[in-house]
Amino acid sequence: MTNMPVENTTAPAISIHFRAAQPHDGADLWRLAQATRTLEVNSAYFYLVFATDFAGTCLVAEHAGRVVGMVLGYQPPQDPRSAFVWQVGLLPKYQGRGLGLQLLEHWRALPALCHCAFVTATVADDNIASQALFRRLARTHGVACEVRPHFTAEMFPDGHSPEPLFRVGPFQRGDSSPA
Ligand SMILES: CC(C)(COP(=O)(O)OP(=O)(O)OC[C@H]1O[C@@H](n2cnc3c(N)ncnc32)[C@H](O)[C@@H]1OP(=O)(O)O)[C@@H](O)C(=O)NCCC(=O)NCCS
Repeated sequence: MTNMPVENTTAPAISIHFRAAQPHDGADLWRLAQATRTLEVNSAYFYLVFATDFAGTCLVAEHAGRVVGMVLGYQPPQDPRSAFVWQVGLLPKYQGRGLGLQLLEHWRALPALCHCAFVTATVADDNIASQALFRRLARTHGVACEVRPHFTAEMFPDGHSPEPLFRVGPFQRGDSSPA
């Protein structure tokens, strides 16, 4: 898809290649989820399904030929104006340098998603980086970031903490080109 230098004041610029996922990425995406140290790691099978059946709505970020970041998402069938982020993650050494926002921008620009008016995701209360990321996406585009209860604690069978829904938008048509 595109090559993009990423830079901030504390880290040197690196050239990241962003592209849609492909079926052979499944194993690397599973490994990446483990390596983030924060993401809930699902079975390898999940990542194979996403990289295959949902490849057009999943983004891979590569640096020096290695998968360093991902956005795994889909369009909820009952809400086709939204693009839902199931998991977003970066290898630890790539976190905190502005790349998370770049991931979301390139993901939104995928042909399968560029018409979407909203980005949605559920984010646990203790995931400060993820909350900050979605609020920053909203701020960057001057749109709202609404938060409302979604998966509440009682809905989980395993003591999982609540996952409120973040809904960012509405984005204008054509407002999905990465800066
Ligand atoms: C969540 C994640 C993708 C964000 O990407 P990132 O490149 O680190 O974030 P950015 O540098 O673009 O910064 C986005 C915002 O998050 C904040 N942030 C980043 N890391 C943070 C941390 N560890 N703690 C608190 N805030 C953090 C930044 O300050 C920024 O907020 P600001 O605009 O208010 O200053 C990345 O941190 C990550 O991979 N985390 C592990 C996996 C995960 O938790 N995924 C989310 C659940 S699906």
